[in-house]
Amino acid sequence: MYKLIIRPLFFLRDAEKAHDVMERMIGWMSRSAIFTYILKLLYQVETVENAYFCGLPIQSMVSLPGGFDKNGNKIAFAHHMGYGMIEVGTVTPLPQVGNDKPRLFRLPKDESLINRMGFNNGGLSMLENNIKKFRKSYPKSKILIFPNIGKNKHTPNESAINDYASAYERLFYLSDGYVVNVSSPNTPGLRKLQDNEFQKKLFERFHEINQRNGWKPKPILIKISPNLRNESAIDFFNFIENEPLASGIVGTNTDNTREGVVFSDNKVVEDIGNGGWSGPSLYDRVIELIKLARDNGFTKEIVAVGGINSSKRALDAVLIGARLVQAYTGLVYEGPGLFKRIQKQLIKVDYLWEK
Ligand SMILES: Cc1cc2nc3c(=O)[nH]c(=O)nc-3n(C[C@H](O)[C@H](O)[C@H](O)COP(=O)(O)O)c2cc1C
Repeated sequence: MYKLIIRPLFFLRDAEKAHDVMERMIGWMSRSAIFTYILKLLYQVETVENAYFCGLPIQSMVSLPGGFDKNGNKIAFAHHMGYGMIEVGTVTPLPQVGNDKPRLFRLPKDESLINRMGFNNGGLSMLENNIKKFRKSYPKSKILIFPNIGKNKHTPNESAINDYASAYERLFYLSDGYVVNVSSPNTPGLRKLQDNEFQKKLFERFHEINQRNGWKPKPILIKISPNLRNESAIDFFNFIENEPLASGIVGTNTDNTREGVVFSDNKVVEDIGNGGWSGPSLYDRVIELIKLARDNGFTKEIVAVGGINSSKRALDAVLIGARLVQAYTGLVYEGPGLFKRIQKQLIKVDYLWEK
């Protein structure tokens, strides 16, 4: 139904407007008992017992990645669909409008997207309120909520730690864990924060916050770029492996090269300009990075994201060492049936049945 009816209708519109309509529809449908019932019937994934992620019980192996629910108003939808985890954000301490429009583009021939959204989001207060509302309405929900935290565009890298620290501290009572985003190509200089020296200071700060408040640490994942060179990636994996507060990595964010262009018109792509490329072509790099991590002794969690658009791709990512899988572009092109198919496939592999 998605590919036959919904997608053609959405694709008639400008990509960001279609996304906004979809967002409103999801919000509205999740509040209506009858539509929730229909959505569940069509798209709810099969859930499991006794599966774990970062030591926490998790109900399924599919998860929504950063950027899909920037302000935390689609958590109820993800909960109804039986997804295991949702990243909410990227949130920045202060609200920001993001880059000028147009900033989201479809490349249907390559089933890809280019975006330069630039962390448009309602800020920490809005996200906090929305998670709080969800927790109140669904106190028994099993979905894991991981805020994906970033820095405001105008915060210089020298004080970026404060942005991450304030989100960490403010959302602690509502979160199951965090994803630290240092890999979006659309915030100038952000990717420099993948540097081990910054990461070391950041984790020291998280530790200090935990100590000061007497908090038991929560899982922290770092989201990496596909454009990291292999040597830097290995360095980074080693750092995460040895950092007691770090639980793993999410790989990857969007690609700032145009190596993924296969069928799209080069001129069309050139005219679009800057932005991160997402979609099927990212997948090989994601697989390469997961292998690189595991071959170099990385034992912590890996969440695979980038170009996953079939249950076969999801399964292969898991078989080489990922624990959870995510999709953004795949969902735009395939619809939520994709997650149902992936979960059906992954449920047959018992890799999650241990703490
Ligand atoms: C429109 C759009 C917005 C995104 N916003 C974010 C974001 O705010 N934070 C983040 O960590 N990743 C963001 N991403 C990256 C995705 O989470 C994902 O890492 C990337 O798109 C690769 O996966 P895919 O090929 O399944 O789309 C965004 C991607 C798209 C297409």
